[in-house]
Amino acid sequence: MKVVHTIEELRDQLRGQLRVSFVPTMGNLHQGHLSLMKLARQHGDPVVASIFVNRLQFGPNEDFDRYPRTLQADIEKLERERDVYVLFAPHEKEMYPEPQSYQILPPPDLGGILEGEFRPGFFTGVSTVVLKLFSCVQPRVAVFGKKDYQQLMVVRNMCRQFQLPVKILAHETVRDVDGLALSSRNRYLSPEERAEAPQLYACLSTIQDQLQAGATDAVELTQAAISRLTGRGWDVDYLTLRRQRDLGAPSVEEIKAREPLVVLSAAKLGATRLIDNLEVF
Ligand code: PAJ
Repeated sequence: MKVVHTIEELRDQLRGQLRVSFVPTMGNLHQGHLSLMKLARQHGDPVVASIFVNRLQFGPNEDFDRYPRTLQADIEKLERERDVYVLFAPHEKEMYPEPQSYQILPPPDLGGILEGEFRPGFFTGVSTVVLKLFSCVQPRVAVFGKKDYQQLMVVRNMCRQFQLPVKILAHETVRDVDGLALSSRNRYLSPEERAEAPQLYACLSTIQDQLQAGATDAVELTQAAISRLTGRGWDVDYLTLRRQRDLGAPSVEEIKAREPLVVLSAAKLGATRLIDNLEVF
């Protein structure tokens, strides 16, 4: 695997390659990330991964400074898996040599809700860096995880609307044996919090089961889950049932008609904010 830190070195490595598949990450790689790279390998060659902790997508009171940066360990994992041909790990000055005054503003009805409501500017930061990374790597295919469901949709819609020649592939959420979605932020959890953390997925699974069994009252189901989590000490930002297609709230008729839905949640356990989601139907 070649590790490059500049756009020029990246271009040198990729000259003439028309089937590049790409997995952007912020590093601190876990099995979720590595599975995305396996999928990328099946859909293109060479595979490029990036590791860049993107300041633009962090709010002023978020964890940019303490976000885990583990480049050496990440390189070793990638070497072991042998899926990635080039790792692009730019320094901040390489991606942002001047203030990023041009930025991508996602439509408010998609980028301003859920994560966008609780993390203002988050999807602008994500969209802007993803567009820049695409322009550096020029992939034909890029792989994103369903763990960050809304992010996947924002990126997909951006590519469609800007007619970018990149096909976006989605990978299922990779979970620990107890159901907790793998995340670089799980390492912030204390042992007690780590033991409690699978409850978020458990609540989403319960709602999935209830809907599959014919329940149609979204408010009742989600309120019960929120109360349950709150009672166990969680601070729930949102836990809500939405349409897969546009993340809008489904009507009872749509629930009855088994329109594809997704339950999405973000909740804090102590100082750690976890997100998860589960598709229904
Ligand atoms: P990061 O959180 O490092 O995630 C990189 C990719 O891995 C994303 O597509 C994310 O959805 C996926 N991923 C993370 N955990 C996963 C899991 N448990 N199962 C499946 N996929 C998982 O998301 C970002 O970085 C950034 O916002 C980025 C897109 C790189 C832009 O900065």
